[in-house]
Amino acid sequence: MHILVTGGTGYIGSHAVVELIREGHTVLVADNLVNSTEESLRRVAQIVGQPIPFVNVDLREREQVERMFQAQPKFDCCMHFAGLKAVGESVAQPLRYYENNLNSTIVLADVMGKHGCKNIIFSSSATVYGTPDHIPVTEDCPKGIISNPYGQTKSMIEQILTDVHTADPGWNVVLLRYFNPIGAHPSGLIGEDPTGTPNNLMPYITQVAVGKLKELGIFGNDYDTPDGTGVRDYIHVVDLAKGHVKALQALERNCGVAIYNLGTGRGYSVLELVNAFMKATGVNIPYSIKPRRPGDIAIYYSDPSKAKRELGWEAELGVEEMCADAWRWQENNPQGFQ
Ligand code: NAD
Ligand code: UD1
Repeated sequence: MHILVTGGTGYIGSHAVVELIREGHTVLVADNLVNSTEESLRRVAQIVGQPIPFVNVDLREREQVERMFQAQPKFDCCMHFAGLKAVGESVAQPLRYYENNLNSTIVLADVMGKHGCKNIIFSSSATVYGTPDHIPVTEDCPKGIISNPYGQTKSMIEQILTDVHTADPGWNVVLLRYFNPIGAHPSGLIGEDPTGTPNNLMPYITQVAVGKLKELGIFGNDYDTPDGTGVRDYIHVVDLAKGHVKALQALERNCGVAIYNLGTGRGYSVLELVNAFMKATGVNIPYSIKPRRPGDIAIYYSDPSKAKRELGWEAELGVEEMCADAWRWQENNPQGFQ
């Protein structure tokens, strides 16, 4: 297939490009580099042994998006990774998040439709479940109350794309709800490169490990979990990327709107992850217990069986690989892609 990968210079998109090329697809990466650099694609090219076509496009700019479609052979599908994703920043800058994430998707879907490309795979998040109705979380779990604008944009975009399909059933929309993606490509060439101090657990751990940060703060040890720290469903980014390749099958059988959880189905606590990291890497991670982080919930992990049943996809890599690969990336690239 010929696939438009929006946000393909970013963390998850770049890993997806590797897997797409490996499976024989052709891609065009479109990104405005607001949170990434083209260096990631030079690294992807090293991994796959071929250059990766790229256009610098702001998806909110209709003329730029139009031009991109006109200059390309017809896309069979779009994998839509592009978007702003920092939860805390979205609370401080709600209009910027709504404007960027919603407008870019609306322009993209409109231009796609006009050019006869009606297949989209969207990067959604388990955050749309809010405090989930039940654990493990299945796809029929109702959406919950979402505490931040970032999460709201995910939920709204899911609805927008669902409505696009309702208006024109020729569309196929796959909504992939990621749990907690971590890790990096085993080559150590690409990985997560957060700007500023990381908000998420694994990049914080790796930056402590490499000496950029002094110690990890663990947000609460009095949750109703086996060791009192929060439990999450961490998934290796390479498994997540492979899930996108498998999701192409759903489009091929005209799935309409299809929702899949992408997770491992296994929860790890913060302390378990810290210990797994120290074991996998031999690097000590000093930590101290801090108050709970507002908005956090005690425990959530996925039921990923629908993706296994319908797409033949399941996560293969364990927490050891997640830790070892995240560390290889950070150790080889202490300043990220700089
Ligand atoms: P990322 O920031 O590394 O990648 C997103 C990319 O989108 C960046 O390269 C950025 O430059 C680009 N972008 C943003 N606005 C754009 C615009 N208007 N036009 C063109 N490009 C634009 O993030 P990521 O971690 O790779 O996440 C990819 C997607 O997955 C995002 O939609 C994110 O919300 C979603 N997601 C991520 C996680 C996670 O933990 N990383 C979890 C759930 C969902
Ligand atoms: C967070 C977002 C979620 C988003 C996801 C991926 C919140 C409330 N949720 O999920 O919307 O989709 O990131 O980007 O922000 N922790 C520490 N110390 C740290 C960092 C985290 O103890 O320095 C703990 C957290 O309390 C949590 C676990 O580690 O229990 C995982 O945190 P994190 O990596 O931020 O992911 P989520 O909170 O699950």
